[in-house]
Amino acid sequence: MKGIILSGGSGTRLRPLTKMTSKQLLPVYNRPMIYYPLNTLLKAGIKDILIIIAPDHAGNYLNLLGSGKEFGARFTYEIQDEPKGLAEAFIIGESFIDEDDVTMILGDNIFADDFTQEIKSFEKGGRIFAMEVPDPERFGVVEFDGDMQAISIEEKPDNPKSNYAIPGLYIFDNRVVDFAKNVVPSERGEIEITELHQKYLDLGELDVRTFENEWVDAGTFESLHEASILVKNKLDKNMII
Ligand code: DAU
Repeated sequence: MKGIILSGGSGTRLRPLTKMTSKQLLPVYNRPMIYYPLNTLLKAGIKDILIIIAPDHAGNYLNLLGSGKEFGARFTYEIQDEPKGLAEAFIIGESFIDEDDVTMILGDNIFADDFTQEIKSFEKGGRIFAMEVPDPERFGVVEFDGDMQAISIEEKPDNPKSNYAIPGLYIFDNRVVDFAKNVVPSERGEIEITELHQKYLDLGELDVRTFENEWVDAGTFESLHEASILVKNKLDKNMII
């Protein structure tokens, strides 16, 4: 299993903080934001990690994370020239992924849960997660039938069919690279990750697992603040880095 941390984008919602550095390097309580998704991967035993970054502030990542040796891991870096969508990570990462399966985590997603078991037990298809939230229209949304089987997936719907948001942690088998190459850009011009979920759902190979612990997408001032509180109260003592 390889790992990808997608840490590009321009962080416009967090200006002026993101004029001087990348969003995913901003402080969350006592560490740079990217440490938390990195911790999630390292805890699950993933040691070979591709970090995808935007051209601006790319040097800051090298200064902070280096080769990975300090973390007992090996880091590879790729530049995403423009934020063309989450699924582009699998195209940029094609040679890195090679013939392996891959877990991707977003550089601004912070999880209180440990996903070691979910990552280690993965065999085939796609495995994503779902959590009930009060504001599902901000996220990818999954609808379940009465047996909690996923029946539809939508990206930021105006009228969500459920309250289950899909967080930024995705486990896919090696076919994801080819599937990503075939995604047609959406109206907003992005290669959407939800198209990949839909592809695995159509194949009957999408495993959607619910979880109830806390998760924060730290992309706004409000959620950045929430993230610091989550780390201080819960996550800090369980960190391995
Ligand atoms: O946080 C979970 C949500 O993440 C999912 O529920 C959605 O399905 C998914 O589309 C995504 O929604 P966001 O609105 O959070 O996407 P955003 O454009 O903010 O990008 C998420 C992170 O990925 C952000 O830290 C920047 C980075 N990014 C984004 C794009 C579009 C990249 O590195 N490259 C990109 O091309």
